[in-house]
Amino acid sequence: PNGAIDAAADDGSLQALRQQAAVCRQCPLWEASTQTVFGEGRADAHIMLVGEQPGDVEDLSGRPFAGPAGKLLDRALQELGIERSTLYLTNAVKHFHHERRGKVRLHKRPESRHVHACRPWLQGEVARVKPQVIVCLGATAATALFGSGFNLMRDRGRWHVLDDGTRGYATVHPAWVLRQKDEARREDAYRLFRDDLRQLLVADS
Ligand code: URA
Ligand code: SF4
Repeated sequence: PNGAIDAAADDGSLQALRQQAAVCRQCPLWEASTQTVFGEGRADAHIMLVGEQPGDVEDLSGRPFAGPAGKLLDRALQELGIERSTLYLTNAVKHFHHERRGKVRLHKRPESRHVHACRPWLQGEVARVKPQVIVCLGATAATALFGSGFNLMRDRGRWHVLDDGTRGYATVHPAWVLRQKDEARREDAYRLFRDDLRQLLVADS
């Protein structure tokens, strides 16, 4: 198996998809990274959050949103009273695209060919979890699901409907919040992020 969904090994479950993604080699990103970071959370979640790709911590731990961006996401969820364990969290790309600089591994944005190659796994997760609402964190996830015409700063917070009828919207990526230059800007960016996530409270009722 090299990553295309193998019908013989597939019983239609999320677990079967995860096992197949673990050995995916459909794009070159697997080679320099530690492991496939598949989604995690409830297989029957009402809400799915989709990020960009695993970062350094996620690559090593094998879990999505385990590093600094994940901590910020946790803070926002906690402030909104949303339990992380009720969600399904995943990424548009499941291996860590990076560049080595001595001992550190610097994040590189996934290219559209990586997003394209990885999309069957994301689509498989959407088809199996069947969430009521999908929130894309950042432009990579948003273009992967809503199409290349998506413009994050223009279209943030607006509802989209996928071909299968699932509703979703996008907000900024928590790593973008962390990249803001000073404390005041970070706090503003954080509020924007959290307030976009707040739409979930009305959407999932
Ligand atoms: N950023 C993402 O987009 N996803 C993660 O899992 C971690 C950081
Ligand atoms: Fe496969 Fe996605 Fe990893 Fe590329 S990034 S090897 S498509 S799982």
